[in-house]
Amino acid sequence: MIDRFHRNVTYLRISVTDRCQMSCSYCTLQEEPKESLSAREIGELVRVAGERLGFRKIRLTGGEPLLRPDLAEVVEEVVATSQIVEVAMTTNGLLLAGRAEELAKAGLRTVNVSLDSLDPARFRELTSSGSLDAVVEGLRAARRAGIQRRKLNVVLLGGVNEEEVVEFVRFAIAEDVEVRFIEHMPMDDSRLTSWRVDPDEIRARLREEFGELQPVATDRSGGPAELWLVGGARVGFIRAISGPFCDRCNRLRVTSEGKIRSCLLSGGEVDLAGVLRGTLPEEERASALATLFQTAADAKPPVYELMRDGAVPMRQLGG
Ligand code: 5AD
Repeated sequence: MIDRFHRNVTYLRISVTDRCQMSCSYCTLQEEPKESLSAREIGELVRVAGERLGFRKIRLTGGEPLLRPDLAEVVEEVVATSQIVEVAMTTNGLLLAGRAEELAKAGLRTVNVSLDSLDPARFRELTSSGSLDAVVEGLRAARRAGIQRRKLNVVLLGGVNEEEVVEFVRFAIAEDVEVRFIEHMPMDDSRLTSWRVDPDEIRARLREEFGELQPVATDRSGGPAELWLVGGARVGFIRAISGPFCDRCNRLRVTSEGKIRSCLLSGGEVDLAGVLRGTLPEEERASALATLFQTAADAKPPVYELMRDGAVPMRQLGG
């Protein structure tokens, strides 16, 4: 699908639940949980997106996707659309160890695991719960299950986990995962300055430790990360604030309650659930959904307007 600024939108991120068992210091939701789309509804949306609109990649996010008992069914629904060539999930990893095999069998090929500290005490403090060991076991189980691409998402917070960058790269080498350092996006303005990290400083620190960073050439259509080889590991930097990538944004988001969101950081939502659950016959329903997708794509702003709508509920949006 082409948007008003000639961007080719081929990547759909679907939040499959707004619930999460963690409560991270930079990501909390006060609202009552709302009902999420069913596996069948998600399947129907993906069919429309893949068959009619040219979408090729789906990411399941949350909240925490693994809190859905029927997640493998969701994956099966997604892979049933043959146009979808990549199915990924973003997870906190806590429940991954017990589910990796089932998900790999269903067709999941990529997992991104959010992990902001390798220090057990700091991890607990940052997430208000959760066991670091469980997350690490989850990553290993994913590897054993044959989930080929495994990435760590590390949101760097100045004065909190910034000093762990070298350790994260060592971990990535040892565990055969890619690590991506993500700039914190101030969804509300409270910690805007105190958590800011200078990406050049981070790279300098890695250079000291591992030698020159080798740039990995990518067309970056696969994502916004700037990739480097560091000591043999793939290390990405996602710089939404210091190096915005809106000009090549290829994504739309579906919230857990069934609204398309045009941009993570700007308002504008288009409701799908009404049509999905309405009385139209199948063919007309598919056409109506396709039209709503195009409306949402056309509402994509050229660049994000951070905080225009105030705080954004990340758990409903899926990061
Ligand atoms: N800034 C950057 N990344 C964030 N995430 C959640 N909130 C923020 C934020 N304010 C990340 C999570 C996870 C992904 C889904 O989004 O840590 O890796």
